[in-house]
Amino acid sequence: TSLHDFLRRLPKCEHHIHLEGALTPSLLFQLAKKNRISLPKDDKAFISPHSLLARYARFSSLDDFLGYYYIGMSVLVHEADFEALAWDYFQHASTDGVHHAEVFFDPQAHTSRGIAYTTVLSGFRNACLRAERELHITTELITCFLRHLPVPDCLTAFENQDVQASYLAGHIKGIGLDSSELNFPPHLFKEIYERAGQQGLRRTAHAGEEGPTSYIADALDILGVDRIDHGIRLVEDPALMQKIAARGTLLTTCPMSNVVLRCIKSIGDHPIRKFLDAGVKFSINSDDPAYFGGYILDNYCAVHEVFDLSVEEWTTICRNGIEGSWCSEERKREML
Ligand code: ADE
Ligand code: ZN
Repeated sequence: TSLHDFLRRLPKCEHHIHLEGALTPSLLFQLAKKNRISLPKDDKAFISPHSLLARYARFSSLDDFLGYYYIGMSVLVHEADFEALAWDYFQHASTDGVHHAEVFFDPQAHTSRGIAYTTVLSGFRNACLRAERELHITTELITCFLRHLPVPDCLTAFENQDVQASYLAGHIKGIGLDSSELNFPPHLFKEIYERAGQQGLRRTAHAGEEGPTSYIADALDILGVDRIDHGIRLVEDPALMQKIAARGTLLTTCPMSNVVLRCIKSIGDHPIRKFLDAGVKFSINSDDPAYFGGYILDNYCAVHEVFDLSVEEWTTICRNGIEGSWCSEERKREML
């Protein structure tokens, strides 16, 4: 339809996509076979790509999803595996009309399995460079820290020689904070964020997905982030919402993710209209597209179906996404 076409042609920026979350059941089984990685035998979901996909439709919470997410990525071993995964995502992004993608990955989820950081980074970087060359998508990489792990583990990961070298080389644009949110408040990660800021890295953090609004406030005030990932619970605190609107902080929302992980009952319960009315800036993203039933354009379409946004509102959303990106000012002007 022409509407789908209109949404596809909008100059979209994606700010909230975990590359490991782009691992489709099909690629997962293919890599498990190639790398001789055994999948859990006591969980019938792992019988086939089909049964796995069916299980994904029944996630009960963020942690229920994360269990599958960490098992899934255990099939990633070689540089070429990481490259194939990211390339698969960039092809979808291109089809969906993404102009610029800032993508997360979880170094600790790989180094803890004995996979070198350089293996992960080289694979992902190869795909990024190929996307820039062949698809004309500009890209940035963001290293996330796993908040369910002990803070000293996260500090060690941040200080890792290869990780530091990649920051120094400009191969990584910023840092993020992800994984289980409840009971892992932002303030625990103050030192990493402070040092990352001193090193010139941009900073974001998942907050207010399952966690309370105080996590959003603390991510802003203690971690010094300039974006908030998800942030849907912000509507529970009107004063904080006003503060975020005034500051112009971008929320990277993921509507389909929120429904699948049962943070909200349906897309209609997403606070998109409230954010628009309050002048809170946000982008619309896929989070873990292979697990949540859709890529970025599916999220745009789902939002449009329910909220029936005007051309003007869509234009504003995309402009805010461009302006809230971590690319050069020159690249922003190209996209505007
Ligand atoms: N890791 C991958 N997807 C995530 C999400 N939606 N929230 C927290 N951690 C994640
Ligand atoms: Zn996320």
